[in-house]
Amino acid sequence: MKVAITKDYDEMSAKAAEILIKQIKNKPNSVVGFATGKTVLGLYSHLASSKLDFSKIKTFNLDEYYPIERKDRNSFCYFMHKNLFNKININPENINLLNGEAKNPKKECENYEEKIKKNPIDLQLLGLGVNGHIGFNEPLAEKTSKTRFVELSQKTIKINKSKSTKALTMGIATIMNAKKIILLASGKNKAEAIKHLIEGKEDENWPVSFLRRHKNFVVLTDKEAGSLLHQ
Ligand code: GLP
Repeated sequence: MKVAITKDYDEMSAKAAEILIKQIKNKPNSVVGFATGKTVLGLYSHLASSKLDFSKIKTFNLDEYYPIERKDRNSFCYFMHKNLFNKININPENINLLNGEAKNPKKECENYEEKIKKNPIDLQLLGLGVNGHIGFNEPLAEKTSKTRFVELSQKTIKINKSKSTKALTMGIATIMNAKKIILLASGKNKAEAIKHLIEGKEDENWPVSFLRRHKNFVVLTDKEAGSLLHQ
């Protein structure tokens, strides 16, 4: 695990953009796992203004609320199109999103997992929940978990101001299979989860801590998110 505590949100976003841009330049048909949330917005605006050729990349998003319509402003589908996909030259056929409108959510997750198996993720981007969740792998999620249908914790429902109580998410094992992982964390409310990740041990109460074992894992935080670390 490589950790960089940057001076602020802008520096964190610029560093993350550098890594992503390098990945796509080196391998134009990279498979990229994208995430949603406020934390990744700075990075997405760098990518949108980069003029990089995204026409060959394939993407898999981490998670989605359930049930939710694609056009709902709270859906991750809406978020991704608004903040990134509509601003870059991505081929719409190469975009994979968990479908919050699926009739059979269990089947939707199984199919998604299969598709990822056939298109292994080169670089997975992650945000971080205040409670240490990654994707929607809430505390007590198993490290062997695959893409699946889950219940959200009360804490997440409150923090995300979510109308949905359920979601579809890649599992911990799905995420761990990515060749490279970059996690971004910004703000004081992420500091406790970052401390568990960097200075703690593997702990199912803090799902992010499972990533400690990943061989090619970069953590980028701003000063606030890194403020509880002993340096
Ligand atoms: C949601 C998503 C997570 C994301 C988190 C962080 O809960 N399921 O994948 O990491 O939000 O959001 P923010 O960046 O807004 O703090």
